[in-house]
Amino acid sequence: MAFNIALQFEDGVSRIIPCESGELVADAAYRAKINIPLDCRDGACGTCKCHCESGAFTMGDYIEDALTDEEAAEGFVLTCQMRPTSDCVVRVPASSAACKTEVATHGGKLVRIARDSATTVSFTVQAERPLAFLPGQYVNLTVPGSKQTRSYSFSSAPDSADLSFLIRDVPDGLMSTYMRSAAQPEDFMMFTGPYGSFYLRTPVRPILMLAGGTGLAPFLSMLLWLKDHPTTQPIRLGYGVNTNDDLVEVEALDALKAALPDFDYFTCVVDKE
Ligand code: FES
Repeated sequence: MAFNIALQFEDGVSRIIPCESGELVADAAYRAKINIPLDCRDGACGTCKCHCESGAFTMGDYIEDALTDEEAAEGFVLTCQMRPTSDCVVRVPASSAACKTEVATHGGKLVRIARDSATTVSFTVQAERPLAFLPGQYVNLTVPGSKQTRSYSFSSAPDSADLSFLIRDVPDGLMSTYMRSAAQPEDFMMFTGPYGSFYLRTPVRPILMLAGGTGLAPFLSMLLWLKDHPTTQPIRLGYGVNTNDDLVEVEALDALKAALPDFDYFTCVVDKE
């Protein structure tokens, strides 16, 4: 069995690598051609010290000089001694370039374009190869026909084969104009990522989500993930928009309300009309 280990670098780049059961994170990173800081590989020097933000693991032998009890209690780990027993998020105190890696480039075809409302468009891209990300993260999509990119959070679940996005239709916006007047199913789209540290951590207390407009997207991704990874923590979402037209994905939220053990949401519309 392999676990997904999300390595979060200082410059915001994420790489999600497989780590086999019983495998050391340092070895899994090496196999993925990522040079996370290492020296002794024996739990003696502390060079490989990282911070584990979520997930379960066992630690092999190490000495206090490499990792103190206080550091271990705060979630610091030695990747040369860390064997995950679940998916984990590990923050690496180095840039992706220093670790000889970089953000991944992906491609995929547009398989769905929908006008959800007068102000909102959603679309789905089928990636050429699986793309792992954390619920809440985003990618930079290149607008077809240009070299410019736009950043959009996934609204789909991290384990979904199809990647969905929710965007505001801005009158002169580059991506908006493409989606409105040029996009066709089967169009090829390039994107880089995933990026971002705004992702769902292991729930340990009640969760309050506040979304504005199409900023609902990352929360949809988190809620979809929570549907498959239930928590006993209550979850509440406040969803604010400017006009009634901006309210979208209400059916999806109702379905999530029915599926999740303790989830509810309220909407807030600024325009009194
Ligand atoms: S590389 Fe020295 S403690 Fe891990």
